[in-house]
Amino acid sequence: TWGLNTLWIGKEIIHKPTVTSTQVVAHQAARDNSPHGTVVIADEQSSGRGRMERVWHSKKGKGVWMSIILRPNIPPYMAPQLTLMTATAIAEVLDQYDGIQPNIKWPNDILIQNKKVAGILTEMQAEQDRIQYVVVGIGLNVNQDNTEIPDAIHYRATSLKMETEKEWPIIELVQKILEGLEKEYESFLKKGFGDVKSKWENYGFRIGEMISLHSGTEKKEAVFLGIAEDGALLIESSKGEAEKIYSAEIDWFVE
Ligand code: BTN
Repeated sequence: TWGLNTLWIGKEIIHKPTVTSTQVVAHQAARDNSPHGTVVIADEQSSGRGRMERVWHSKKGKGVWMSIILRPNIPPYMAPQLTLMTATAIAEVLDQYDGIQPNIKWPNDILIQNKKVAGILTEMQAEQDRIQYVVVGIGLNVNQDNTEIPDAIHYRATSLKMETEKEWPIIELVQKILEGLEKEYESFLKKGFGDVKSKWENYGFRIGEMISLHSGTEKKEAVFLGIAEDGALLIESSKGEAEKIYSAEIDWFVE
C-alpha cells in the first residue's frame, strides 16, 4: 500500500505498471464516476503529455507520474488557481529536503537551479458554468541521469538525482505530495486564493526582475511584479501600472 496519511486524496488509487498517459486513464475514470480525490499513478507512460502539446518523457520507475481527479465546487474561471496551488504544494514538499531550493516558474513549472524538475497539466471538464471534474497531472523527474531525459539540454530539464547525485525514494515523494496537496486544497477552499498567492510568491521565479513573455506571436518585456488575487501574472505596464496576464509563457532569457 501507499501508506497515505490523508482523509480523501488517494482513498482510491488506480496503479498501473504501464499506461499511455495517466491523464487519459483519469479522464475515463472520472467519466465512470470515480470519486473526488482518486489518484491514477503509473510506473511508466508511453505517451505522457505536457502543456502546449509537448511530450513528457516518463521512463519506468524514474519519476512520479500521476493524475488526480478533483470535483471542486468552484466556478470554471478559478480552475487555474488549482494549478498554482498544486505547484505550491510540490515546491513546499521539495523545500523540506536539505540542499533543494525550489522555484516556481509561472504558472506552474517547478525549477531547481533554473532547470525544470516538475510540471503540472490541469485539464477541466465543464458544462455551462459548472465544473464536472478536473484532472491534475503531476510529472516529477526523480531518478533519471542526464542521458535519460532527452530534452535535458534544450529544454532545461533536470531530475532530483541530477541535482543531488543520489537516488530518491519515489513512494515517499508521492506520499508527501498527496498529503501536502490535500492540506493546500482544504485551506484554498476555506480561505480562498490569498493564502496560496503569498506562498506561491515565496517561490516565484524572477519576481521583481525584467522578464520576457510570449503568447503565440506576441512578445512582451516587462518587470514581473507578482501574481494577482486571481492567479494572473502581474507585470508593470509601460504606463507604470500593473497589468494582468492570463495566458503566456515566460521565456528563459531576456534578449
Ligand atoms: C508540463 O510541464 O508541460 C506538464 C507536464 C505534466 C506531466 C504529467 S506526468 C502525469 C500526467 N500524465 C501525463 O500524460 N501528463 C501528466
